[in-house]
Amino acid sequence: MRRAIADAEVGDDVLDGDPTVRRLEARVAELLGCDAALFFPSGTMANQSALMTLGRPGTEFIAHEEAHVVDREKCAAAMLSGMQPRLMRGAARPTLDTFRAAVRPSSPHLPQASLLCIENTHNSGGGVVTPAAELDAIASAARAFGLGVFLDGARLWNAHVATGTPLASFARAADLTMVSFSKGLGAPVGAALAGRRALIDEARDARRRFGGGMRQSGVLAAACLYGIEHNIGRLADDHAAAARFASIVAEANGASVVPPDTNIVMVTLPAGVRPGDVERAASERGVGIVPWDATRIRAVTHLDVAAADAERAAVAVRDVINAIQRQRPTA
Ligand SMILES: Cc1ncc(COP(=O)(O)O)c(C=O)c1O
Repeated sequence: MRRAIADAEVGDDVLDGDPTVRRLEARVAELLGCDAALFFPSGTMANQSALMTLGRPGTEFIAHEEAHVVDREKCAAAMLSGMQPRLMRGAARPTLDTFRAAVRPSSPHLPQASLLCIENTHNSGGGVVTPAAELDAIASAARAFGLGVFLDGARLWNAHVATGTPLASFARAADLTMVSFSKGLGAPVGAALAGRRALIDEARDARRRFGGGMRQSGVLAAACLYGIEHNIGRLADDHAAAARFASIVAEANGASVVPPDTNIVMVTLPAGVRPGDVERAASERGVGIVPWDATRIRAVTHLDVAAADAERAAVAVRDVINAIQRQRPTA
C-alpha cells in the first residue's frame, strides 16, 4: 500500500480531476452497481453529505437509535442539515416492523420524515449484517412514504464477505451508499458515496460545503484502490478471528457475547464490572479494547491482528473480567 501511495499518478481533483481518484470512483461505482461514485476524506463527511443531499431541513431522518449517524457524529445532521433523527428502537438489524413502528403518516402536528438511513454492517450492534432481501423490503416500504434511502455501508465489504452477497445487491436498495476504506481494508483515510449521477453531483456540492474538496488526492485514492484489490477477500480471516475471540471471552463469568456475524465483538460485562476498568487492566496486558457504553466493551479484528494475537487478546480479556469480579467486595 505504501508503494502504491508513492507511485500514484496525481492531478488536481478540485480543478480538473485526479486520475487515480477517478479510477477509484469508477471502481467503486462498478462494484456497487451505480452510475457514479465520489471520494471523501472520511466516512462521517460522506454520511453527512448524503444526509444533506437526500434529506430536507426541517424534517426527520429515520435511523436506528444507535446508528453512527445518530450516536457518533456530534449532532452533525442537526447542525449542518437542519434535521432531527426519528429513532428505530430495538435490535440493530432493522426489520419492516421496526421501520413501521418509527415511520408516521403526514400530519399537521408531527414532523415529516424525508429520509431513511440504514447501517450495514451495524457497528454498535456488533457488526450485525442485514440481508439484502430485508434491505429491499424496508427500502420499498420507505419509498411508499416518499422517503429517500441512505445506506451507511462503512463495513459493507464485511457484509459481502460474510454472506457472499454481491455488494451491488446491498446497494440497489439505496439512493446513496457509503463505503469506507479506512476500516477493514486498511487504508489510512477515505470513504466514498455511490449512486445515480445526478445525486453524486449534488453530493459533490455538499462535500465542497464541508470543505472536503481535495487536490492531489490520488495519493490517498491509491491506498484505497490497493485496499479494494488486496484486502477484501482476507476479511474472512478477521471474521474467523472475531468468532474465536467471542467464544473465549464468553467463558468469563457472567459476560454475555453474541456470536459475531463479522469482525466486531460486543461484550456485555457482568453486573458491577465497569468497561473503563476492563480497558485499563487489558491495556496493562498489551490489549487495546474500547469501552462502548455503560455496560459493553467492543473488540474489532482487522488486518494488523493475526489469529494468534486475537486468541491471546481474548484470553487476557476473559481473565481480566474474572479477576475484576474476584476483587469486588462481596455484599
Ligand atoms: C458505521 C459507520 N459509519 C461511519 C463511520 C465514520 O467513518 P470515519 O471514521 O471515516 O469518519 C464509522 C466509523 O467507525 C462507522 O462505524
